[in-house]
Amino acid sequence: MELIKTKKNLNLYLAGLLAEGGSIGFVPTMGALHKGHLSLTEIAGKHSDFVIVSIFVNPTQFNDPDDLRNYPRNLEKDLSLLSVQGKTAAVFSPEVNEIYPEPDLRKFDFGQLDKVMEGAHRPGHFNGVAQVVSKLFEIVQPHKAFFGQKDFQQLAIVRQLVKQMKSEIEIISCPIIRENDGLAMSSRNVLLSQEERIHAANISKTLFKSKELAKSMDVVKLTEWVTIELNKDPFLQVEYFQIVDSLTLMPVESWSEPVEKQGCVAVKIGKVRLIDNINFD
Ligand code: PAJ
Repeated sequence: MELIKTKKNLNLYLAGLLAEGGSIGFVPTMGALHKGHLSLTEIAGKHSDFVIVSIFVNPTQFNDPDDLRNYPRNLEKDLSLLSVQGKTAAVFSPEVNEIYPEPDLRKFDFGQLDKVMEGAHRPGHFNGVAQVVSKLFEIVQPHKAFFGQKDFQQLAIVRQLVKQMKSEIEIISCPIIRENDGLAMSSRNVLLSQEERIHAANISKTLFKSKELAKSMDVVKLTEWVTIELNKDPFLQVEYFQIVDSLTLMPVESWSEPVEKQGCVAVKIGKVRLIDNINFD
């Protein structure tokens, strides 16, 4: 497995791969890798001949400077996990000035997609995601790119971005990987104290239960129930829970609406903010 730090070296490396023929699958990450990320590289390996992983903690998508400062970083461990798994051909791990030689002033317009949920609670976050993903797509020029459903709204934004870029890259969505107690794997989970980690399992437990209750409760009541149930745990503080149309991300008002429905939640536990989601169809 190659470790590549510059665009120039990556271009040379990719030119070599393309000369051999075969397709390139791309898995963008911010590192602190866990089994969720490794599931993406596993799936990418099935869909493409060469898998490229990027590890880059993108400063422009952090709206909270403390979150950026505290974001876990462990390149050595990440490289070892990927190399043991054996699916990744090369890791692109650039410095900030390699991606942003000058400030990126682009402002993207995703209509309603980036105004709701994460977009409403993390101003500028998706603009930063779009900046880095568009740059990485231009650098790597993959045939396919792999994203987790864990970041459900990000997937919708990336699909829209690819349309706006008039790009041919195929976006493949990959299922959420969970810990044994149901907690969605996240790089931020290591920031939880032992006690907080135990309580964090209530997020997915409540989402799973809500799926059962959906048979007997209307959308408004269920939305209230999830919020109240989570807030009952003194460790948890709900930022939002919304049941939305999985394509437009607009709130759903009734189960009878002929759209795919997704329940999306953001919860704070102490200083750590976690997101999760569940499909209601
Ligand atoms: P990061 O949080 O490192 O996640 C990288 C990819 O792993 C994303 O597509 C995310 O949805 C996926 N992922 C994370 N946890 C997962 C889980 N438990 N199960 C399945 N997939 C999971 O998302 C980002 O980085 C950044 O915003 C990025 C796209 C790299 C742009 O900077």
